[in-house]
Amino acid sequence: MRTTLLKVFFLSIAIFGFAAVFAVKAQNITTKPVWRAHWIESNFEEDKTVRPAQYFRKVFTNKRKIKAAIAYITAHGMYEAQLNGKRVGDAYLTPGWTSYKKRLQYQAYDVTPLVIKGENSIGVTVGNGWYRGAIGWGDNTNRWGTKSGLLFQMEITFSDGTKATIGSDGTWKSGLGNIQYNEIYHGETIDHRLAKKDWALPGYDDSAWSAVKVASYDNSNLVPTINEPVKKHETFKPVKIFTTPKGEKLIDFGQNMVGWVIVKAKGAAGDHISIQHAEVLDKEGNFYTTNLRSAKATANYILSGDGEEVFEPHFTFYGFRYIKVEGYPGELLPENFTAVTLYSDMAPAGTLSCSNPLLNQLQHNIAWGQRGNFLDVPTDCPQRDERLGWTGDAQAFFRTATFNFNVKNFFTKWLKDVAADQRADGAIPHVIPDVLNSDGGATGWADVSTIIPWQMYEVYGDKQVLIDQYASMKAWVGYMENHTNVNGLFAYGDHFGDWLSFKPGNDAGSDAITDKYEIAQCFFAHSTQLLINTAKVLNKPDDVTKYESLLKRIKDAYNKEYVTGSGRLMSNTQTAYVLALQFDMLPDGEARIKAAQYLAGNIGKYNNHLTTGFLGTPYLCHVLSRFGYNDLAYTLLLQDTFPSWLYPVKMGATTIWERWDGIKPDGSFQNPEMNSFNHYAYGAIGDWMYQNIAGIQAAEPGYKKIVIKPIIGGKLTWAEGTYDCPFGKISSKWKITGNKLTMDVTIPQNTTADIYVPDAAGKNYKMYTVKGGTYQYSR
Ligand code: BGC
Repeated sequence: MRTTLLKVFFLSIAIFGFAAVFAVKAQNITTKPVWRAHWIESNFEEDKTVRPAQYFRKVFTNKRKIKAAIAYITAHGMYEAQLNGKRVGDAYLTPGWTSYKKRLQYQAYDVTPLVIKGENSIGVTVGNGWYRGAIGWGDNTNRWGTKSGLLFQMEITFSDGTKATIGSDGTWKSGLGNIQYNEIYHGETIDHRLAKKDWALPGYDDSAWSAVKVASYDNSNLVPTINEPVKKHETFKPVKIFTTPKGEKLIDFGQNMVGWVIVKAKGAAGDHISIQHAEVLDKEGNFYTTNLRSAKATANYILSGDGEEVFEPHFTFYGFRYIKVEGYPGELLPENFTAVTLYSDMAPAGTLSCSNPLLNQLQHNIAWGQRGNFLDVPTDCPQRDERLGWTGDAQAFFRTATFNFNVKNFFTKWLKDVAADQRADGAIPHVIPDVLNSDGGATGWADVSTIIPWQMYEVYGDKQVLIDQYASMKAWVGYMENHTNVNGLFAYGDHFGDWLSFKPGNDAGSDAITDKYEIAQCFFAHSTQLLINTAKVLNKPDDVTKYESLLKRIKDAYNKEYVTGSGRLMSNTQTAYVLALQFDMLPDGEARIKAAQYLAGNIGKYNNHLTTGFLGTPYLCHVLSRFGYNDLAYTLLLQDTFPSWLYPVKMGATTIWERWDGIKPDGSFQNPEMNSFNHYAYGAIGDWMYQNIAGIQAAEPGYKKIVIKPIIGGKLTWAEGTYDCPFGKISSKWKITGNKLTMDVTIPQNTTADIYVPDAAGKNYKMYTVKGGTYQYSR
């Protein structure tokens, strides 16, 4: 009854004179709106392939003085809004990507300065986005709906305190414009001949535009935005403009990145510029896009012929370093091409550098892998027809990610989708948002549900994430428990295993060397341990008891099944030992010491090369350090022949590759079916680098207590790291001159630290316990 009345009231007052019933604290953008606006959609007939952007428009008159105006906007698709021709906000690809049916974000904008006295106009463009554009595989359009649509509500507070609301409704108009085609994977087509000049300004004649359709959706899925939106960041100018052996005209921007290129051109009406994007050149130096699979990643720009024209896409993004330009009127000049990056606007958190330039390039590549793939959700890769929130990749990289940027809000938001898409039986789908409709439950992938919340608590010291995710964590452990066999083993279901581990002759790594169920038992234990830790923090003693007894059974079963009498593991692989040691699967003492020896021996057998995949790699050097093999950890880190972290660096990589050998020593490529050059998972070594080269470690959740303990090795003569923890900036710097070591350390106020200062040989640490302040040591 109340709702109906409100609706009638809202419609009948049209847009003005709304009294103070729905109070909005105008300056507080976190205020949740009461939705009185209606979803609107265009009336156009559309098919699945040609779906131009929709343009929505509304004119209103404002006669009064305004104190504040807040616009709440969301869309089925992606939107860009203007008020009186000015862009609303500086966020891109909004409303971002979530499990739309359950959680659709709206954004709130303070538009006070944009509303004027007299005629005003709202103009919103809506593209297909993740909502109904192609995403995932197979029949991949319309994942969440067939129609794009807009929900817009602006709440105005006048200077006398009265309020009004302007919302999308049947009085709005819709039309088409210059964005003729827009797809995340395939790119955007903009035809300036079809531009409706000044369409977002009040005076525009929209008599030829159609009435909109008012649609009704249950708005219970609407949620405020809690993470930083995608914004523009760095820009790049061409470092080289050249012609390939095949005669293609290319521009090299010098960095593999994610975003798009802003193009200026002057030509005749109908001139058609096509811009394709690629990450690498082939062996012969030609443009290479086979690894993008079906993604066309092409911008098509058609000129109106009206002087200098500027083109820039709206509803797509590309992963690229090179562009191939066709049809450009005139010579390719650097001033007409600017690449701009787009990624979630996370605050930078850390820096790391040292005396070895190859390691500095590796750190650069890790951070750029993060920039390119933290685009509202943590994606596996940003360029091919995939770009999905693969859970395994995200958990593998999480700890490293925290060092480079503040990812608290980014992951708080994504974890909500993890929980939202979790199956009723507790399984976590392989990708979040779940567009693959997989059964989920893959070891090391589904464990994202326990690993990230716990690590987030360790890094940011905020229990809220544990409170919010506890049910989800428990449900995933419950799933594994429900699928244990009579021997207490979680030996059930399909798994990716130690994905893309080194195995000569094994192409996709789908049959990783380490037994998948052996891995599964380790992650079962790990997730259970993290649940116990969480139950302790949240003070749930019954759960602690329950899961401690489960953990014992898991480990007993593991030791019975996978450990030989002499202490070797059934899979005699690096990853098997790494996981067993990292997750404390073996009894304390001799068994662990021996396992670490087997691990070191195995590395030696491969001539000091790692052979680990997505699951073993993040922990490899940590385990070596923990068991006294720091030198070996450095040897692996500095190894520069395949497989190793520095091999791609030596091959000229500017981001982390999906595979250890994406480009082989002879310049040929790995299987193009899966060969991304911007895939952050192996960048997980960054965590070890920050914690050991710079020596910055959290000894208590949120860095309330800090340990500074650099490991001197790898012939490094100096290193420097900084990290913005919740209490402020930590910095740690060391330098060796002759046989003297100096250390400069800054610890934030309200924290304490144990600072370990080695001698110039990296031995005989002396420990100092200090409070916030700046310290210098020399030995
Ligand atoms: C993705 C991965 C992902 C994997 C799972 C790939 O297609 O790119 O990074 O984790 O599939 O097997």
